[in-house]
Amino acid sequence: MAENREKWGSKLGIILAVAGSAVGLGNFLRFPAKATLNGGGAFMIPYFVALLLLGIPLMWIEWTLGRYGGRFIHGTAPGIFDSIAKNRFVKYFGVIGILGPFFILIYYMYIESWTLAYSYFSFSGVLFQAADQESMKSILNAYQGVTEGAPIWPAYIIFCVTFLVNFYFIYRGIQGGIEKLSKFAVPVLLIIGIILTIRVLTLGTPNPDLPEQNISNALGFVWNPDFSQLANAKIWLEAAGQIFFTLSVGMGIILTYASYLDSKDDIALSGLSSASINEFCEVILGASIIIPAAFVFYGGAGAIRIAESGTFNIGFVTMPLIFEKMPLGFIFSGLWFLLLFIAGITSSVSMIQPAMSFLEDEFGISRKKAVVILGIFAFLACHPAIFFLKYGAIDEIDFWGGTMFLILFATVEVFIFLFAMKVSKGWEEMHIGALIKIPKIYKYIIKYITPAFLLILLSVWTYQQFIPVILLEGVSNENKPYIWTVRLMLLAFIITFAVLVKIAWRKRKNKEVKI
Ligand code: ALA
Repeated sequence: MAENREKWGSKLGIILAVAGSAVGLGNFLRFPAKATLNGGGAFMIPYFVALLLLGIPLMWIEWTLGRYGGRFIHGTAPGIFDSIAKNRFVKYFGVIGILGPFFILIYYMYIESWTLAYSYFSFSGVLFQAADQESMKSILNAYQGVTEGAPIWPAYIIFCVTFLVNFYFIYRGIQGGIEKLSKFAVPVLLIIGIILTIRVLTLGTPNPDLPEQNISNALGFVWNPDFSQLANAKIWLEAAGQIFFTLSVGMGIILTYASYLDSKDDIALSGLSSASINEFCEVILGASIIIPAAFVFYGGAGAIRIAESGTFNIGFVTMPLIFEKMPLGFIFSGLWFLLLFIAGITSSVSMIQPAMSFLEDEFGISRKKAVVILGIFAFLACHPAIFFLKYGAIDEIDFWGGTMFLILFATVEVFIFLFAMKVSKGWEEMHIGALIKIPKIYKYIIKYITPAFLLILLSVWTYQQFIPVILLEGVSNENKPYIWTVRLMLLAFIITFAVLVKIAWRKRKNKEVKI
């Protein structure tokens, strides 16, 4: 089996695949809204602190653990943890590293399918029949099937198409599917992102009656720091959460991707390159499109109101309205949604791969069979996000998969790296085949600062966010049964995967005894 395990075709391939995983809806929708609502330029202080002390170290740790696991034909956390820590329980924690991305996937793919539909609606001109916030919002709500009596089947069909496209790339495998997709998609999304950024930055002063609403004030609005916000723990939590989400760290994805490397392939420079592409897309492109555009058309107060109205509202209601006001706006609007779709699909395929690798590596089943099994479960699991959208299902799934599991998994993997692999061995391992020397200070950051940061984060987050959410504070009685249904489904997945780990290891033991 070992010799049959897939490998990346090239260094550029894996760098772009990891960058593709990182650059996603988070960069273009989540980041601008978070930054605007959390102190503008001041948000960048906790953001960069979290990037340097959490994101980058975790990213290198994940590449290291992943490539190490690949040597033992393990592409996911249960096997990787088990081959490092000789403790029979530790592999069960690894389940979080398969289900974190899987839980994100089951709502993310649905949102991704909206971007595909909206790209078509823009290019075909249908979207531009709506001329104000109200009518644009009604189009979105009708499309989502949230409006009473509006049919959900168009959204459902487009979702099915998106789902099939995702699984097609997975079916084609690491080199033939994910690598090929990323090599094409990442450059295309960079080009579209740059075109849209240039378009927004050359908007000038679109309304001469409101000269202060110009593009240089817009950039000032985005970047002027409101330092008073730094005393607020919430902005530190938000910044750290954004770093996890945007870099795809703490998910288990990088572990899986790195497991398909050769044991002497570089990870130090490759990891840094992927993270840099992501940061370019987030801080340069992500911050230069939505919010500056909203500012020049709606002013500072308007831009804040828009950011407050939620991520979907910004992306699917405000942005098309803004593009409507530009010459050839339908093209820019179409490109905007195409950008989101491309960014989305390179991320969603990366969320499927850990569960695929788990089935292939730990049960020895073929890729084809694994695609069918996983495809059926994933397809069913997407349904609450589609049909319970208006009851808050997406927020609930995101809370577990997109927040809680990330912090938890990051903490577990750092402790495994520190205490089971040991820092000095881990540091050596990180440098095998390395094309750059990682600054020595990172050895100390990894040893002391990253774990301390994570523990503080975990405690503050548990107190401020976990307890209220778990107790369903602020959730209406109408929504509660739906939220509980979602929770039961997620719990069923956790139990199923824990049992699968048990079965896989029992099988392995029996095989070893026979030999
Ligand atoms: N890293 C991916 C994103 O930003 C999940 O959307």
